[in-house]
Amino acid sequence: MLSQKKLLLRHLFKTAQNYHIMLETKENIQATQVDLFGQLSTFDHEQVVFCQDNHTGLKAIIAIHNTVLGPGLGGTRMWLYNNEKDAINDALRLSRGMTYKAAISGLNLGGAKAVIIGDAKTQKSEALFRKFGRFVENLNGKYITAEDVNTTTKDMEYVNMETEHVVGLPEWTGGGGDPSPVTAFGTYMGMKASAKQAWGNDSLAGKTVAVQGIGKVGFHLLEHLHNEGAKIYVTDLNQDILKKANDTFGAIVVPGDDIFGLDVDIFAPCAMGAILNDQTIPQLKCSIVAGAANNQQADEKVHGPMLKEKGILYAPDFVINAGGLINVYSEWTGYNKEKAYSQAENIYNTILNIYSHADAHNTHPQAAAIALAEKRIHDTMKLRSTY
Ligand SMILES: NC(=O)c1ccc[n+]([C@@H]2O[C@H](COP(=O)([O-])OP(=O)(O)OC[C@H]3O[C@@H](n4cnc5c(N)ncnc54)[C@H](O)[C@@H]3O)[C@@H](O)[C@H]2O)c1
Repeated sequence: MLSQKKLLLRHLFKTAQNYHIMLETKENIQATQVDLFGQLSTFDHEQVVFCQDNHTGLKAIIAIHNTVLGPGLGGTRMWLYNNEKDAINDALRLSRGMTYKAAISGLNLGGAKAVIIGDAKTQKSEALFRKFGRFVENLNGKYITAEDVNTTTKDMEYVNMETEHVVGLPEWTGGGGDPSPVTAFGTYMGMKASAKQAWGNDSLAGKTVAVQGIGKVGFHLLEHLHNEGAKIYVTDLNQDILKKANDTFGAIVVPGDDIFGLDVDIFAPCAMGAILNDQTIPQLKCSIVAGAANNQQADEKVHGPMLKEKGILYAPDFVINAGGLINVYSEWTGYNKEKAYSQAENIYNTILNIYSHADAHNTHPQAAAIALAEKRIHDTMKLRSTY
């Protein structure tokens, strides 16, 4: 005779088995295939928070990568991901990038990022962002949010109704406003530093530049390029913005993926990530890739060396696009626009320093930038190891 305890155990085991089968046979199958802790340990993430609310439809993931240097700061992206796995991957990749971005920029900040799964055109509401704000508040300042792709200063105002741990607020509320102009300025500085490295002269006058993505950052970047006398090519999914770029700056519009194969001096990715990959890199004819998009290389271990082998100078994305982070950091410590622009100007020197480091260590710039960022984090950890 089986004891009561054994019977109970057998029952529990059977129930668990059935539950597992149920999970695997339903649409949840994707979730069961995510090796979440494996993924977290791969890049040494500290914490991931899943936020769910039926009433507002909020489905958000907050990924906190590293808080050695300070609280994790990173914007909130709203995107209609194909599946939950893609959303998790995006949050993990972007938050790691924020750690490096803060570290290499000399800021006392860690790295984090949030993604809201949803259609920004139809699913935004005050209640959704306020609910998200409450989840941010629950983290007690370990995570500070801001706007990102498909979120705005207005959305952050709603978040701010529930938490103080938000930056990128409108100027009339004492915030620094949209950080995109500072991001564009820093990108422009990094582009000039790359020109100096490649051609011994940082002037962009007469240089040809292809910009992919004329959004909040791309459009401001066009202004700097136009003012310096560069010849500009542009592409975007939005026809209205292309017309505006042509009308305002005389930018030459090219269709979609033709942007990769243009015979230009500089290619500036300012749309989405992973656009430097096995298919696009062989098409490139430029001497420099320098743009604002996050995570431009589909796989930095493969595509960093591939660009170097092709003789293309690559300005590491998380360094060149740090202007926005610099601006919101300034907001967090007491906003000073002049100081923010002056720090963003320093991206010029940081980029040149990375190129020297890459040359000295016979590596590619992305690897050099990561090494320098990690060194700052490790050095800080060490100095805090004594009482
Ligand atoms: N806004 C900032 O301050 C900031 C800071 C750091 C990094 N970034 C990064 O820079 C990039 C652009 O940011 P943004 O704020 O300008 O975003 P945005 O949404 O305002 O602009 C992106 C633009 O890219 C276009 N686009 C999207 N897919 C495209 C494609 N396949 N081909 C051509 N165009 C395409 C969109 O139509 C849009 O006009 C993003 O990767 C973002 O993460 C932005």
